[in-house]
Amino acid sequence: MSTIITVATMKGGSGKSTLASCLAVHWHLEGRHPTIIDADPQRSIARLAARDRALDGVPVVEDATEYACNAAHRLSLGGGLVIIDTPGFRSEITTKCLTASDFVLVPVKASPFDVDRMIDTLNMLTKSAGDRRPMFRCLLTQTTRDSVIAKHIRSELGAAGFPLLESEMTNRVIYAEAALWGATPSLMERAGAAARDIAAIAAEVDNILAIRQAA
Ligand SMILES: Nc1ncnc2c1ncn2[C@@H]1O[C@H](COP(=O)(O)OP(=O)(O)OP(=O)(O)O)[C@@H](O)[C@H]1O
Ligand SMILES: [Mg+2]
Repeated sequence: MSTIITVATMKGGSGKSTLASCLAVHWHLEGRHPTIIDADPQRSIARLAARDRALDGVPVVEDATEYACNAAHRLSLGGGLVIIDTPGFRSEITTKCLTASDFVLVPVKASPFDVDRMIDTLNMLTKSAGDRRPMFRCLLTQTTRDSVIAKHIRSELGAAGFPLLESEMTNRVIYAEAALWGATPSLMERAGAAARDIAAIAAEVDNILAIRQAA
């Protein structure tokens, strides 16, 4: 099945590029053939791919133009899995990628400032995409597991009707350490805690997409 997953939120530093690269590498290690589109002019993922481990060879297409979504569509034809990393600010690129996606992941740190900006992103999604509104899920990132604030934000978002993945991207130093080598935790320590977090997130996304496909 052709699938375009966009990782987006207009809050900078919320973990978009980390999430996009980690999911891509995870699915690559599972024998799927994902492609990443780096649609952020900051080129975070392209820079990562230029380091030693080069994301284990996951292809990265750089296109920080409003045509990034066309590239995604082309790459997804015939069953391709495409993951788009978007900029951390409001841009036409993000709007178009959201509209072209099958699924949107919205990473959010467990802090009120980040939640407000996340809600702006979701409003943009609702307004711009019209009938073609993709399914989305929020994902708590850089959390301290079982912290009061994470629990609070989780229940606040749930009450406000924003669907959240059960899994979280817990705060762990291995993300930055792996990035030094152009790797992700799944490449550094396949059975480690961070790799397991990533696997759980990927499994939830797969599950949601499978349900959508069956519907
Ligand atoms: N789960 C995590 N644990 C620890 N550090 C993390 C985690 N996720 C992301 N980081 C770190 O947080 C910083 C910001 O992450 P990242 O670059 O992925 O965010 P971003 O949303 O893509 O930022 P931008 O909006 O600038 O593109 C990076 O230094 C990254 O290593
Ligand atoms: Mg980024």
